[in-house]
Amino acid sequence: MTPPIEGFSRMTKEEKIEWIAARYTDNSEETKKILKRYWHADAKLQQLHDEFIENTISNYYLPLGVAPNFLINGKLYAIPMAIEESSVVAAASKAAKFWLERGGFKARVLGTEKTGQVHFIYKGDVDKLRKFIKQITPILLAEVRELAINMEKRGGGISSVNLRDRRVAMDHYFQLHCTFETIDAMGANFINSCLEQFAQTMRREARSYEAFSDEEKEIDIIMSILSNYVPGCLVKAEVQCPVEALNEEKDMAPLEFARKIVRAVAIANAEPYRAVTHNKGIMNGVDAVVLATGNDFRAVEAGVHAYAAKDGNYGSLTHARIEDGIFHFSIELPLALGTVGGLTRLHPMVQLSLDILQNPTARELMQIVAVAGLAQNFAALRSLVTTGIQQGHMKMHLLNILNLMNVSQNEKDTLIQEFSDKPVSFRAVASALERIRPGK
Ligand code: MEV
Repeated sequence: MTPPIEGFSRMTKEEKIEWIAARYTDNSEETKKILKRYWHADAKLQQLHDEFIENTISNYYLPLGVAPNFLINGKLYAIPMAIEESSVVAAASKAAKFWLERGGFKARVLGTEKTGQVHFIYKGDVDKLRKFIKQITPILLAEVRELAINMEKRGGGISSVNLRDRRVAMDHYFQLHCTFETIDAMGANFINSCLEQFAQTMRREARSYEAFSDEEKEIDIIMSILSNYVPGCLVKAEVQCPVEALNEEKDMAPLEFARKIVRAVAIANAEPYRAVTHNKGIMNGVDAVVLATGNDFRAVEAGVHAYAAKDGNYGSLTHARIEDGIFHFSIELPLALGTVGGLTRLHPMVQLSLDILQNPTARELMQIVAVAGLAQNFAALRSLVTTGIQQGHMKMHLLNILNLMNVSQNEKDTLIQEFSDKPVSFRAVASALERIRPGK
């Protein structure tokens, strides 16, 4: 067994690579070569990436694609997407074009409230605790003034501080439940700094609060942290068109197509096995834009899935209906995003992605991301209820198969042509390659 290592983070990058290559890979020379091949030629840029995290040894590339023709609230966008899955950008582009010809997407922000909590244990008289929190609220706010000043200048800040009695969930458990407006920042650092200060102030003030008994004075702070569940930071995007305008499916009448989409969404609402996959398809679009714009996709994922289960059942994030001959398709999802702070001005690709999106505010970015999710779901459902998903997916995957087989450019061109009207599978491509290779 490889022995544990002390002081790894203090080693130089070269030393770390040597160590990893020697201990954990069969071919250490090859490992070193691969890791270094992905270093950026511009040493300054590489250093920037090295310093994003601890123990950087190389870079991990994902393609950055662009899905054009998204008409959102009357404005045309090309949406940058960072994702590895072959068919996602193609599907987004197709859905964008489809809806461009039918009036485009409408989106609006329903709320931008973020939440954070100080979780604590208090064993005492609850009325006294209520009075205490009421009395110290001005002190709590005064002591985060310095932290909040910039946010307040931009129109944000702390919007509420409330005591929550959570003893039904756990003995003696209370929260200081706080809400925040963070404007164009995702706001995690601001929120967490405020919460940690609230906790300190609360602990100190409790110790000198005369009405408290000795035991009550010792409020046991467990932790202070923002919540990634942001149901008050919500965005809605929608499309609609007369049912007859859904006329692009060769083998399906528009009304049948519309009904199938409505049923497919109903199935996602009725069946968690389907709902998870349905929402995964939505997140293909959402995460790709969230990642391209330097936002925290893990926070978004966690919050979105919790929202999908808010009614006690895990269900669809999208909704579909036919009403008076009109097909309506919409999405509603919580998105805590930032267009300032974090990586936005540090990572050149993030900066560029935001430029491509014409430097949106956080509210605009919420709308764009929601639209990307809706478009992705429409594209997936459209394939699922008509041709099936594999036709489009394997077509896009063909290039991956060819690259795995190390084909020449000539062979690639020939095989792409050959498979333009044939089902793609690894086997079919392998035998076609065998056939066209000289000497066969
Ligand atoms: C694949 O990444 C996503 C889909 O499975 C989504 C769906 O089934 O709705 C195609």
